[in-house]
Amino acid sequence: TLKRHVLVAAISGVATAGMALQAHAATEVNLGHTLSSTSHYSVGADAFKEALERLSDGEFTVTEHTSGSLGGEREMIEGLQIGTVDVVITSTGPLGNFVPESYVLDLPFLFENYDQARCVLDSELGDELLEKMGEHDLVGLAWSENGFRHLTNSQREIATPADAEGLRVRTMENAVHQEAFRQMGARPTPMAFPELFTALQQGTVDGQENPITVIVATNFWEVQDYLSLTGHVYSPAIVLGSPILLDGLSDEERGWFIEAAAASAQATREEVSRLEREGVALLEENGMTVKTDIDIGPFQEAVQPAYEIFTSEYGTEMLERVQETA
Ligand code: PAF
Repeated sequence: TLKRHVLVAAISGVATAGMALQAHAATEVNLGHTLSSTSHYSVGADAFKEALERLSDGEFTVTEHTSGSLGGEREMIEGLQIGTVDVVITSTGPLGNFVPESYVLDLPFLFENYDQARCVLDSELGDELLEKMGEHDLVGLAWSENGFRHLTNSQREIATPADAEGLRVRTMENAVHQEAFRQMGARPTPMAFPELFTALQQGTVDGQENPITVIVATNFWEVQDYLSLTGHVYSPAIVLGSPILLDGLSDEERGWFIEAAAASAQATREEVSRLEREGVALLEENGMTVKTDIDIGPFQEAVQPAYEIFTSEYGTEMLERVQETA
């Protein structure tokens, strides 16, 4: 019997240790974004990882998937809805296809500077928009940042909308942006970001538009000679979670994700600000011709119909609220 007791004790000891192991097995959180591991999104992803692993005391571990290895932004948002990815840092580019209320943020020349844009995203209205994600099988964790978008191309210096006439410009898969470029006289070509570098290299498109952050992180100087600082639209980013993971968590655990996303957004904004100060010089050093003193008046006038199309489809209320908050 002594032998039997020892055996039972040993077996239950193994079982208890197994259960304890199971209880402490970390949950892997897969985080995806489309930019390189040196980008402002990776700075944000690193901050998210550090904060979530620390706050949860190792209950969650974060694995980062960079450079669009999980697909373009539209595909990754779909991945969140079906649970194939857990957290995504994305621009609002394709988001309007899922959450039309977010289109208001993509209107050209809506914000004049970073302070205005950040102030709106950090307001009650920004929180409301984050909550809206919940109605579309997404969890809005925090507003992050991509930056003010500028036009690059391989053909010529662009100083006025007339210079952009006929230029084949890759846009994001975003109806508001496509309309704005059509109004400028360019030929907008929507395309997922992971296909863009090759498209520029092969001349399928002549130009593209993105913030300094992205132009730096993607070495676009290798395929684009001209940069015009049009600042034609502020490009927000958002940290989104999958409801498949997050809906099953306790309030405390969800709180850690929200706090980690806030840390991520903060770190990203700081990196955007740094690149706004230092990025243009870096692009010039790498051979880009940069047009800085652009008169944005004619561009603003050209894209005005995009506002009319937006308000006739979605009304004026959201736009007015953004303008009042800014
Ligand atoms: O151009 C885009 O699609 C976006 O700005 C990017 C580069 C994927 C960052 O969100």
